[in-house]
Amino acid sequence: MKTETTIQGLTASLNPARSARKIIGFVPTMGNLHQGHLNLVREAKKLCDVVVVSIFVNPIQFGPNEDFDSYPRTLEQDQQLLADVGCDIVFAPTVEQMYGNKPRLTNISVSEITNDLCGLQRPGHFDGVAVVVTKLFNIVQPNYAFFGQKDYQQLAVIRQFVKDLNIPLEVIGVPIARAEDGLALSSRNGYLSPEHRQVAPTIYQSLKAAEQQLQSGVDLDTVLANIRNTLTEVGFVIDYVEARTPELQKIHTFNQDLVLFIAAKIGQTRLIDNLLVKYTV
Ligand code: PAF
Repeated sequence: MKTETTIQGLTASLNPARSARKIIGFVPTMGNLHQGHLNLVREAKKLCDVVVVSIFVNPIQFGPNEDFDSYPRTLEQDQQLLADVGCDIVFAPTVEQMYGNKPRLTNISVSEITNDLCGLQRPGHFDGVAVVVTKLFNIVQPNYAFFGQKDYQQLAVIRQFVKDLNIPLEVIGVPIARAEDGLALSSRNGYLSPEHRQVAPTIYQSLKAAEQQLQSGVDLDTVLANIRNTLTEVGFVIDYVEARTPELQKIHTFNQDLVLFIAAKIGQTRLIDNLLVKYTV
């Protein structure tokens, strides 16, 4: 496995694969990898000849009071994990390599689906994601790009601008990887104190309970209120508990498939999760 830190180096490493028309798979990450990321690489390996993983903590997707400075940077450990799952090339650029030292004058902004859910609490976040992911797509030029469904809204935003801008690749969403107790894997789980780690799975438990309630006929508003109560009782501060269609449109009645979304803070740690609930008549 090679690690490249410059765009030039990455291009040189990828050129033989490009000339041989090999299928290139790409997994963008911010590092501090866990099984969720490694599953993305495993999926990429099934479809692709060469797998590139980027590790880049993207400053422009963090708000001023967010955790950019403290975001865990664990490159050596990540490289070892990636080598073990058969990643071919790690791309770990510096901020200067990605953004240069002159101001960036171009933005990429997806409307409507970013005005809601995480977009409300994190203004500018999805623009920052859209810019860096587009730059990475242009640098790596993959055939397939792999993203986790835990960041459901992010995945929807990426699918949208890939379609709108005719970016020539296919986006693949990979199911959420969970700990045995149901907690969705996230680099931010490392911030949890032992006590908070114990209550964190309540998020998933409340989603599963909600699924059951919906399927047994409890109305959607009551189900959402039940989730809010359960989480508040164990100490979460709720950012949002919402239901949307799989395309992220508002929904008030369980009369089609829907996705339940939670973002909530326990201590200083903000966790997100979601669950697709199937409508069966
Ligand atoms: O999901 C992430 O880790 C990041 O938002 C991404 C897609 C790598 C862009 O920085």
